[in-house]
Amino acid sequence: MDLDKLFGRYRFVWNRQYRRFKGEAPWSGARQNILKSLFFKYNIKDGLALDLGCGYGDKSFFLEKLGFKVFAVDISSVAIREAVKKTSKVSFICADIRDLNKVYLLRNKRFDVTLDLFTSHFLNSTQMRSYIKEIYKLSKPGGYLIMNVYAKDSETPSNIARSLSPNEVGELYSEYFKVLERLRNKFKYAKGNYTDLYVLRRNQ
Ligand SMILES: C[S@@+](CC[C@H](N)C(=O)[O-])C[C@H]1O[C@@H](n2cnc3c(N)ncnc32)[C@H](O)[C@@H]1O
Repeated sequence: MDLDKLFGRYRFVWNRQYRRFKGEAPWSGARQNILKSLFFKYNIKDGLALDLGCGYGDKSFFLEKLGFKVFAVDISSVAIREAVKKTSKVSFICADIRDLNKVYLLRNKRFDVTLDLFTSHFLNSTQMRSYIKEIYKLSKPGGYLIMNVYAKDSETPSNIARSLSPNEVGELYSEYFKVLERLRNKFKYAKGNYTDLYVLRRNQ
């Protein structure tokens, strides 16, 4: 699936999904314990957090509970409309992660931590490169990026679409971020496939 071919239809595709979910996405609530233990381990707290591909906002609300001031972005207007109904101080923004530089609310913000959980893996490699540069600009020096993708290497089947190997992650991110850790996991909603959750830190 090439996002550019779908452009125009892309929001429609996600909106259709979220209409089907009726308020409860398959990934709602997943990985919160892992995130909590990583935040504890790396002493990530009390700052500005950005949740990219927030959907109904379950991770955004979770970040807020942990004490962050949260900005959250999703392309689906259906998901964002549901998210803003809940009582919170999260700033929800309906936008495309490929256009983060055009989002007024993010202008001049520098985040302590950014979540990209199964969101940027929809981008092709050119889009991915400019997106990573943008995340670099939006992160504080030393800020964290927590990123979840489908795993690709000898341990996993080779037919998983949009998967990344550790080498590919290193190659894509190393100019701007250092990989601190990779956690291999299987999640129910990832249909039994391996996924890799990376903790990256912005270069100073
Ligand atoms: C697989 S879901 C993951 C949701 C959540 N991050 C999680 O893992 O719990 C991907 C989310 O990214 C959003 N998304 C996909 N492409 C996007 C884009 N180009 N810009 C903004 N949001 C996007 C979708 O609408 C959807 O909510």
